[in-house]
Amino acid sequence: MSQTTEQTAVRYQKDDDGIVVLTLDDPTASANTMNRLYLESMGAAVDRLEAERDEIAGVVVTSGKKTFFAGGDLNGMVKAGPEDAADVFAMVEEVKAQLRRLERLGKPVVAAVNGTALGGGLEIALACHRRIVVDDPKIQLGLPEVTLGLLPGGGGVTRTVRMLGLSSALMDVLLLGPRMKPAQAKEKGLVDALVASPDELLPAAKGWIQANRDDADAAVQPWDRPGYRVPGGTPSTPKLAAFLPAFPANLRKQLKGADYPAPKAILATAVEGAQVDFDTASRIESRYLTSLITGQNSKNMIQAFFFDLQAINAGSLRPQGFETFRPTRVAVLGAGMMGAGIAYACARSGLDVVLKDVSTENAEKGKGYSEKILGKAVSRGKMSEAAAREVLDRITPTGEMADLAGCDLVIEAVFEDPALKAKVYAEVQDVVAPDALLCSNTSTLPITGLAGSVDRPADFVGLHFFSPVDKMPLVEIIRGEQTSDATIARAVDVVQAIRKTPIVVNDSRGFYTSRVIGTFVNEGLAMLAEGVHPVTIERAATSAGYPVGTLQLSDELNLELMAKIRKATADALAADGRELPAHAADAVVTTMIEAGRPGRLRGAGFYDYDEDGKRLGLWKGLADTFPVADRAPQFDDLVDLRDRFLFIEAVETARCFEEGVIDSAAAANIGSIMGIGYPALTGGAAQFIQGYPGGPAGFVARARELAATYGDRFAPPPYLVDLAESGGRFPA
Ligand code: NAI
Repeated sequence: MSQTTEQTAVRYQKDDDGIVVLTLDDPTASANTMNRLYLESMGAAVDRLEAERDEIAGVVVTSGKKTFFAGGDLNGMVKAGPEDAADVFAMVEEVKAQLRRLERLGKPVVAAVNGTALGGGLEIALACHRRIVVDDPKIQLGLPEVTLGLLPGGGGVTRTVRMLGLSSALMDVLLLGPRMKPAQAKEKGLVDALVASPDELLPAAKGWIQANRDDADAAVQPWDRPGYRVPGGTPSTPKLAAFLPAFPANLRKQLKGADYPAPKAILATAVEGAQVDFDTASRIESRYLTSLITGQNSKNMIQAFFFDLQAINAGSLRPQGFETFRPTRVAVLGAGMMGAGIAYACARSGLDVVLKDVSTENAEKGKGYSEKILGKAVSRGKMSEAAAREVLDRITPTGEMADLAGCDLVIEAVFEDPALKAKVYAEVQDVVAPDALLCSNTSTLPITGLAGSVDRPADFVGLHFFSPVDKMPLVEIIRGEQTSDATIARAVDVVQAIRKTPIVVNDSRGFYTSRVIGTFVNEGLAMLAEGVHPVTIERAATSAGYPVGTLQLSDELNLELMAKIRKATADALAADGRELPAHAADAVVTTMIEAGRPGRLRGAGFYDYDEDGKRLGLWKGLADTFPVADRAPQFDDLVDLRDRFLFIEAVETARCFEEGVIDSAAAANIGSIMGIGYPALTGGAAQFIQGYPGGPAGFVARARELAATYGDRFAPPPYLVDLAESGGRFPA
């Protein structure tokens, strides 16, 4: 392949009025990123602008791609370790020096934003004197670096603080990294003007330059004008001095004590930078960014939230070679909690749904759930009344099997009873389309067994939704022994059609997610039996990064259900002549069930609840039932408690790889984070092992330590030991 040395990612075109249009358009990739070619091209463009300065009226920066600019080069970042800090710092400074020269050219520079500008893309636009954006709600603007364990280090922190003031920059833009529509970004003050269509963009940008060509001020950023002050004041002005010190504490509380380095670094960058001049602030920003890029947390988060998610969305788990399946009419069987939620998710995505329960009355109740959610969306102004009505009209409630005629997708969510499910399949398969995809939302029953009651087991698959269905983004697809590749491909298409993220796993008791989350809950209960204070157990989990503590989660999942599952597992093993090993959690489960406190459903568990199911506080009787050990806790105890949670789930994940339940690190990472709350900061259960200090070998060593102290359940399985010894990785 021939490659010209003249390649550029920044086209330079000057018109008759002396306006230069810089078009960002990397010929080597489908999106613009801050790679080497960009750096060289932008460097050359700025050199030329400075050389031709006197002949220039102004500059427009726009993009030749659908996305304005995608941002930093994440492929490069994940390879940078602490030893590369000097190189990383130099590269960050180079990117910023170019933008700084552009904003100090002395000529008006306008960003004409024709597509999504997130992260580095928005940072380029922020270095311009004016931002004009096409008012298309599909365009996203924002600085979401924090969600990848990074900070906007291309000038994003330094400039937003100077544009919006410290507290607005931190709260509205930097700490949570929201993606905004153009109109929202304008409201926040990040955008100066909107145009209705892409055709109006360049004329509007050039028009502004023409109108301001004699106004010297238009070519100077506010922070480069004499006497400039950060809006709202600096940390030393009394108003901010009074409330800024509370920021770190609030942040800690929001993160529930979990150790996310990026928000802390953003806070420090903003506060330290607000007290010094622009260029010093910019260097402080580069230093903090360098420490985040070269650290482990950003690698974990980039792996999961960028590479893994992108791969899965692009179809990495979908068998190839099958046409895309777009269901038209969905039969949802069972209008209980899950069926009602599934019906809503389908209707919301434009599918017609027939919602069937034992009676029309029951089915109508299930439809009422959608009505409630849609009503809320309308009253909050998130949806028009007409659009809500349209969604609701797509759901037809019924008590009659015959109404399912012609459905090309069946999702069953009746009671968790294999005999009932078998009966329902036998009836439904003769009514729906002859090639309809047959799915069960069972949470515990092996798919291969259920498939025995349909005539077309190859078309039968598990489609495991999570509760509450409207909020939970993940669906676990379970391949039974007889499920065909075509069926898996169709199931992936269904999940994507209803705008959820699929993972694909092989059949096993508890599949992947339920099996792993079970070990987390049991570990917390075992701690209780050992005499660890319940508050310490909950804090250990949340400070490790889990969204809720174990005891709270146990109340949600319900101990009676867990006991039932454990018994079914024991019975299945017994039929094989094997025995389920005893677990320290068993006695706690029995005691709580006997005390009439299985969980929130019954209004009583480890916590007390009011009549509406609202959680009040820990059950006062816990102290007598599970006395706290008479020993002052040591610092290492907390470290061990956190590690026990993280390791027990990671070790179970490794077992799932060993048994072939899961065969993709991306599926394990995304499944564990999005399905069962494994801490996002680890990058997921597979990434936790691979990114552990010393890699899998380091993980194995620590797991063995935990096994020696707390029991064999922590012993790394042979598959993982082999992986560690051979220096291998999980399949991607
Ligand atoms: P539920 O008890 O709320 O709803 C079951 C519904 O099925 C009831 O409305 C019942 O009237 C209906 N039903 C019973 N026989 C029927 C028949 N012959 N035809 C049509 N409808 C019939 O149960 P839930 O929680 O919605 O669970 C349903 C399924 O989803 C179960 O297999 C469960 O294991 C699974 N699941 C539950 C999760 C949860 O968090 N609750 C999570 C994931 C899966």
